Amino acid sequence: MGTTSLLDGPVFLRDLSREPIVIERAKGVYLYDESGKAYLDAAAGAAVASVGHGREELADALREQAAKVAYAHPGAFITRPTIELAEKIIARAPEGFSRVFFTSGGSESVEAAIKLARQVHLAHGRAERVKVVSRRTSYHGATLGALAITDQAERVVPFTALLRVEPKIAPCYPYRCTWCFESRQCTLECADDLERMVEAEGAACIAAFIAEPIVGSSAPGAAADPAYWRRVREICDRHHIVFIADEVMSGNGRSGTWWAMQQTGVKPDLIATAKGIGAGYASLGALLVSDEMFDAFRAQRSDFRHGHTFSGHPVAAAVGSRVIDIIEREGLLARVRVMGERLITRLHEAFDDHPHVGDVRGRGLLAGVEFVADRASRNPFDPSLGLRSLVRQECLARGLYIYQGGGSAGALGGDHVLLAPPFVIDEEQVDELVRTLRDALDAAVARLR
Ligand SMILES: Cc1ncc(COP(=O)(O)O)c(C=O)c1O
Repeated sequence: MGTTSLLDGPVFLRDLSREPIVIERAKGVYLYDESGKAYLDAAAGAAVASVGHGREELADALREQAAKVAYAHPGAFITRPTIELAEKIIARAPEGFSRVFFTSGGSESVEAAIKLARQVHLAHGRAERVKVVSRRTSYHGATLGALAITDQAERVVPFTALLRVEPKIAPCYPYRCTWCFESRQCTLECADDLERMVEAEGAACIAAFIAEPIVGSSAPGAAADPAYWRRVREICDRHHIVFIADEVMSGNGRSGTWWAMQQTGVKPDLIATAKGIGAGYASLGALLVSDEMFDAFRAQRSDFRHGHTFSGHPVAAAVGSRVIDIIEREGLLARVRVMGERLITRLHEAFDDHPHVGDVRGRGLLAGVEFVADRASRNPFDPSLGLRSLVRQECLARGLYIYQGGGSAGALGGDHVLLAPPFVIDEEQVDELVRTLRDALDAAVARLR
């Protein structure tokens, strides 16, 4: 262990304002730093480490596959682990999905979805279909295409001049819904906002609509009911718009079913995913393609003009395959449902009367707690106070890692935490997580005074 600051070292750190914590090892739901201090990983990184840390079985899968064949270029070859993983994914996908295009992460999956939607339209003579509609208060990735359909000011604003201007509609976000906050009964005005946008822009120029079934980092835990998705599906069908479900966070079991969309009874055209699919042991992502999309594409073309060097990487695929085995062998989907309910119950117990918590929400093990300066008005804290950073600092000091975020109140306002622990979390650890978060929030608010 050196004594000099890592801020002065060769790694270009994402956050140059604080000394990073060096993690040395991890096991189950805990990360350990070089001094041996444990951190409960309450966000599984960012909804990544689904089956928990330190699994020998996955380390073996990596080693075995790397020794056999670590790489063969996807433009020319395919390997057995890739085929096997695609078969397993399709066997667990919503009905009517038959193909998987592999990527190395979530942004790549979203870009692949946009490009496939575009190529299907082009193949069918709809060259003017260029726009991708998304929702306000959303995050779909860091690359320029994915960022253009993102609505989170702090991530987007520095790059606005580089981005295509894409249409954004209202989110389905009951806590801050202008139509139904009082009644808390969704009137589907938010879904109809898609219809209004289609009318305003002209259906003939819209290629796709993208949304998360359970929102991750931008408004964690916000989830629309099946009626919302039915309305969205109906609007997309009527106007020949490709419906992309962004399940980068909510997919791969985090919702308590393999895909969150399976709980809605609505079939999207494409499902973009990543994160939990490799559970943190490999950089892996995927685009699940419905029969209709694939058939429409294949009828006109045989070459998808898209791909990355590491698409379908055999080592990553071998890991993805074992992750599915582990989730099934250990009954982790059922565990997500049980622990998810416990987490939401405990969060309500801890925060329903808290003066600075406006909303608690979530599905499965994807939950969010939104902080407000004032509950009655729902006004957020002044962003310059940096509440979310203080909450994170106080959590880390107490051995808890949470994924902090902001912008849920629009522009730069709003502070929240995303809770998405590994599926193997147990009852006591859920309780420990909530207790520590409450202490940390109180300590953070006290520092503001
Ligand atoms: C919903 C959603 N889509 C896309 C992405 C981008 O994924 P990645 O960071 O793997 O590129 C993220 C990442 O947080 C995400 O939460």
